[in-house]
Amino acid sequence: MKFFIDTANLDEIREAHALGLLDGVTTNPSLLSKEDGSPTDVIHNIAELVPGPVSAEVVALDAEGMVREGLALREIADNIVVKIPMTLEGLKAIRSLTEQGIPTNCTLVFSATQAILAAKAGATFLSPFVGRLDDLAVEGMDLIEEIVEIYQNYDFQTEVLVASVRSPLHVSQAAQIGADVVTIPAKVFSQLASHPLTDLGLERFLADWDKVKDR
Ligand code: G3P
Repeated sequence: MKFFIDTANLDEIREAHALGLLDGVTTNPSLLSKEDGSPTDVIHNIAELVPGPVSAEVVALDAEGMVREGLALREIADNIVVKIPMTLEGLKAIRSLTEQGIPTNCTLVFSATQAILAAKAGATFLSPFVGRLDDLAVEGMDLIEEIVEIYQNYDFQTEVLVASVRSPLHVSQAAQIGADVVTIPAKVFSQLASHPLTDLGLERFLADWDKVKDR
């Protein structure tokens, strides 16, 4: 399973990268709006820091504009993946960029039918948003199960990238289902390793060691 970090913040990315477990980064216009400096500079710095795929999103609504913006994003760095919203125009743009050998990430996916269309268009990654479905009292992980099964049925090569992750449970459920990638916010990333029994156990080991270390 690949781990991406879902942020445009360089400090957060640096910290996750230092763990040696980071396979890529996903950004979106909202995440970029939280950072100082031009979006182009921020994306450039991220792509320089992390060698894996870095998703950067287009904002045009028509296919031609999306392709134009996608090509411009690819000028920033070779590891940029062009993030395209799940619309009919987006599907045309994904098809066109795929034919030009450019990797894409189809975003804002909330149904299995959308997932089928994106795979048929040739998307490299598919981003279903589990947290935003949970927010509507719809089980986001059910959608991941459906999509993984459908993609296996037809041997679609599109990688399922679980997005809108809100908790460590989302990460373990995505892994259990067999999703290819999970993109994790920095806060959840740090929660993944922690367990109160680990802290307590370590504390006890060190206290016991203190009693014997000078024997
Ligand atoms: O990058 C897209 C996605 O992960 C957004 O998550 O928390 O804004 O629903 P969220």
